[in-house]
Amino acid sequence: EKNISGKITWSSPSNIALVKYWGKKENQIPENQSISFTLEACKTITNLYYSKNESSSKDFSFKVFLDNVPKPDFEPKIETFFKRIEVYMPFLKDFHFKIETENTFPHSSGIASSASGMSALALCLMSVEKELNPEISEEYFNKKASFLARLGSGSACRSIEGDLVVWGKHNNIDGSSDLFGIKYPYQVHDNFKNYQDTILLVDKGEKQVSSTVGHNLMHGHPFAQERFKQAEENITKIKGILESGDLKAFIALVESEALTLHAMMMTSMPYFILMKPNTLEIINKIWNFRKQTGLHICFTLDAGANVHILYPEKEAKTILEFIKTELVAYCQNGHYICDRIGFGAKKL
Ligand code: PMV
Repeated sequence: EKNISGKITWSSPSNIALVKYWGKKENQIPENQSISFTLEACKTITNLYYSKNESSSKDFSFKVFLDNVPKPDFEPKIETFFKRIEVYMPFLKDFHFKIETENTFPHSSGIASSASGMSALALCLMSVEKELNPEISEEYFNKKASFLARLGSGSACRSIEGDLVVWGKHNNIDGSSDLFGIKYPYQVHDNFKNYQDTILLVDKGEKQVSSTVGHNLMHGHPFAQERFKQAEENITKIKGILESGDLKAFIALVESEALTLHAMMMTSMPYFILMKPNTLEIINKIWNFRKQTGLHICFTLDAGANVHILYPEKEAKTILEFIKTELVAYCQNGHYICDRIGFGAKKL
């Protein structure tokens, strides 16, 4: 028998939701559909070294390194992930793995590395599966990678393919599924080509409430059912917007989604607030600037205090100047990241 061992490297991006996923059922099945922009600069690069064990083992065998430093504190999370995906990857216990990972964005920047990190690991494991079974198609590979990534962190399933990704079964999106993300299958107006995302790092601290806890607080939440219905309607609306290129309608939908996400947090029991005073300062400055200039700048938020500023490439020069002169002052240590819409994970 041949000695099966090797090294696989994947680079996988983060993503930012336009219609937000917030609330889940068993097995990381989303309560509502979501759609995201894939990012380009914010990525995780993961090396997976794999070698087949001499004899079969009844435990998973792996080590995790972040920036070349051993990270035993990451291992329980990976162990849980391996347990969840084992039924779909029966070969896992036959191998020893060394997982080496690094992010292009600073850690403890408040940018969640779970989407990029879990998708990168899922892709590496799929490459091992392909090694064992070279017959598998590219479509199967990507779908299953997204399916596995979902079991690591829900939003990670939207980080496999770019540039727009839908997750969650929706009547108006062909091929959509609760089990994996799909590349948005319809025409997108040129206004959204190379859309920009400048991420303002308002607070780099650990968030006080994890997204797992937040999702669970949607169970029995007084506004949950209305919220899930709204997300479904917003997917239909954004489909029209992406086709027509209506930037005003895009801004209204995206900002409303961001504030609704945080409104759900504020109306949970227990309730919590992840925005910081500077988050609100930035939002107000953006609104004033938009009113004065008529430019198509808007914000979105994920589960934290940082602000993602979205704008069309055509308007980038003036808007970036505004960000640098007016908004960077509200960032922790003046830290921000210039990103843009990207095209998905890459095998290196
Ligand atoms: O992937 P999770 O379980 O960390 O959830 C993330 C949810 C949000 O980032 C707040 C919204 C989204 O759709 O990405």
